[in-house]
Amino acid sequence: MFNFEYYAPSRVIFGRGVEERTGALLRELGISRVLIHYGGGSAVKSGLLGRVAASLDGVGIAHASLGGVVPNPRVSKVREGAQLAREFGAQLILAVGGGSVIDSSKAIGYAVAEPEHDVWEIYDRQRTPKACLPVACVLTIAAAGSEMSNSSVITNENTGEKRGYRNNLCRPRLAIMNPELTAALPPYQTAAGCTDILMHTLERYFTQGGNMELTDQIAEGLLRTVMKNAIILRDDPANYNARAEVMWASSLSHNDLTGLGADGMDFVSHGLEHELGGMFDVTHGAGLSAVWPSWARYVYKDCLPRFVKFARDVMEVEPGASDEETALKGIAALEDFFCSIHMPVTLKELGVEPTEDQILTMAASFAKSSGGKKGSAKVLYEADMAAIYRMAL
Ligand code: NZQ
Ligand code: ZN
Repeated sequence: MFNFEYYAPSRVIFGRGVEERTGALLRELGISRVLIHYGGGSAVKSGLLGRVAASLDGVGIAHASLGGVVPNPRVSKVREGAQLAREFGAQLILAVGGGSVIDSSKAIGYAVAEPEHDVWEIYDRQRTPKACLPVACVLTIAAAGSEMSNSSVITNENTGEKRGYRNNLCRPRLAIMNPELTAALPPYQTAAGCTDILMHTLERYFTQGGNMELTDQIAEGLLRTVMKNAIILRDDPANYNARAEVMWASSLSHNDLTGLGADGMDFVSHGLEHELGGMFDVTHGAGLSAVWPSWARYVYKDCLPRFVKFARDVMEVEPGASDEETALKGIAALEDFFCSIHMPVTLKELGVEPTEDQILTMAASFAKSSGGKKGSAKVLYEADMAAIYRMAL
């Protein structure tokens, strides 16, 4: 077990109807002017945006609003939001939506706090932010875990680069989570969200050492719970308890709890997906399931004990004749699970067929953005990244 620091300052308000308390909760934080940020229209159509605005009105919080955030949120929208937030004098950005809206809100928070700089410099690793305007969220999809994470992921549409950045400054002050709000999701988004939740846990699970028994038990319990409830939601999308299980898992899977004491994180599958997202604008969770089986088969021999443990304790497969065989059975079992919730397990199934040139471009971009190498299960370099894309075709 390695030393660790755990910081999860987001106040979580969870359950039916909790969005009605948004105004009062922001008042407790001393907030009186807010920029409400939202996506492509689902929150308008469902009436959620109106209810949240009414809740702010009820306690005298002034608000401006800006919609139009798209999945794989764009830096141009961040700049637009920052200008509006400054002009309005917003003290907090209130995200009403999913990971894309929350991430756009976090980026606006950085941009407003340091107006003398362009915000993309942060995602391009040219500078480290010193401040971030507070962010709060009313979550509408269980997936990215941005509601408690220190991460935000922004796409520069001019360069096709999708870049994540982690800093505790941006962790939401308040995460308002009503599982009922996720019942309106299309089945594909529910499944992609479940996949992302699994992947945040697996990215912390497949490491080279230091693993704590307690951390493993939490991670394995979370993985089993999400898989079980993803199947329930496939067959019964309105099931409240399953929605609730998955929503809470989304937060715990990415607030660092499932990796404490371990040797860092792997996050290669995420890096591979980010390049696909930047180049082809794919759905994040679906991009992850499309690359994970290839990544796993590429690295498992270098992280064999963890893959055997995963096969035995999470996927509960019958042991094979050798550890390698058991590990491969575990990988195949998760692949089968992805198929069972209609997630792609190859790039072709994802709907993209990159050329060799595009594969080399993505591998080079991933390697560059990660300082030349990435991974804990197995440290990978540019040529490895290209090889995994080819395997995933
Ligand atoms: O824009 P609207 O109309 O709201 O539609 C959204 C969007 O099309 C829809 N949706 C959301 N809630 C809904 C709903 N539709 C009906 N009813 C509802 N209640 O779902 C679609 C996807 O929304 P999005 O916010 O993009 O989903 P998600 O939460 O999966 O976020 C994905 C983004 O988060 C990043 C991803 O890379 C991607 O850009 N990530 C952020 C992380 C973080 N900040 O910690 C970590 C993750 O690994 C991830 O990289
Ligand atoms: Zn993710």
